[in-house]
Amino acid sequence: MSTEITTVGIIGAGTMGNGIAQACAVAGVRVVMVDIAQAAVDKGVATVGASLDRLIKKDKLTAAQKEAALALIQGGTSYDDLKGAQLVIEAATENHELKLRILKQLDGLLAPETIIASNTSSISITQLAAPTSRPDRFIGMHFFNPVPMMALVELIRGYLTSDATHDAVRSSP
Ligand SMILES: NC(=O)c1ccc[n+]([C@@H]2O[C@H](COP(=O)([O-])OP(=O)(O)OC[C@H]3O[C@@H](n4cnc5c(N)ncnc54)[C@H](O)[C@@H]3O)[C@@H](O)[C@H]2O)c1
Repeated sequence: MSTEITTVGIIGAGTMGNGIAQACAVAGVRVVMVDIAQAAVDKGVATVGASLDRLIKKDKLTAAQKEAALALIQGGTSYDDLKGAQLVIEAATENHELKLRILKQLDGLLAPETIIASNTSSISITQLAAPTSRPDRFIGMHFFNPVPMMALVELIRGYLTSDATHDAVRSSP
């Protein structure tokens, strides 16, 4: 059965996290963006707002579309808020130990059917998936910077990533 993705969780509100949040929200997908400090979350949301303003200036977006997109982004510091997402994308600092810690925490918290993805640029997806209980529902989503301009994401399957996980992520908005 295919998973319909209507809410995406994002770990990290930095360059990639807020770019992914913007791309998802503009596509009409609800976003929960979590970082370690509220200041980082606020900065991420403000970056999205400024980026959408630039699109309005270029006549690529209306003010109403900007408001609609921002209304879809919920930011915070609690991983608990990610529980309603069908897909959680880890876009935290590129550090192997840190990512393993975050992924184990997510694995213990999220419903078994939730897909976890990592935006890592250099770490093996198979290695990141291994300590989780869901290597079949784990995938690499390598977004390109700046995300909203590139509109490109490379999917990287781990050794055990299932076809269903790959298809659910590929067909998401
Ligand atoms: N910047 C790029 O061009 C680019 C391109 C492709 C992939 N990536 C990858 O994307 C990921 C993020 O990169 P970035 O450039 O956005 O980094 P960044 O430094 O801009 O943002 C990382 C964010 O993660 C947050 N963070 C750290 N620990 C956390 C935790 N435990 N929980 C929640 N948030 C936490 C930090 O506070 C920071 O806001 C990395 O894996 C990087 O390799 C980056």
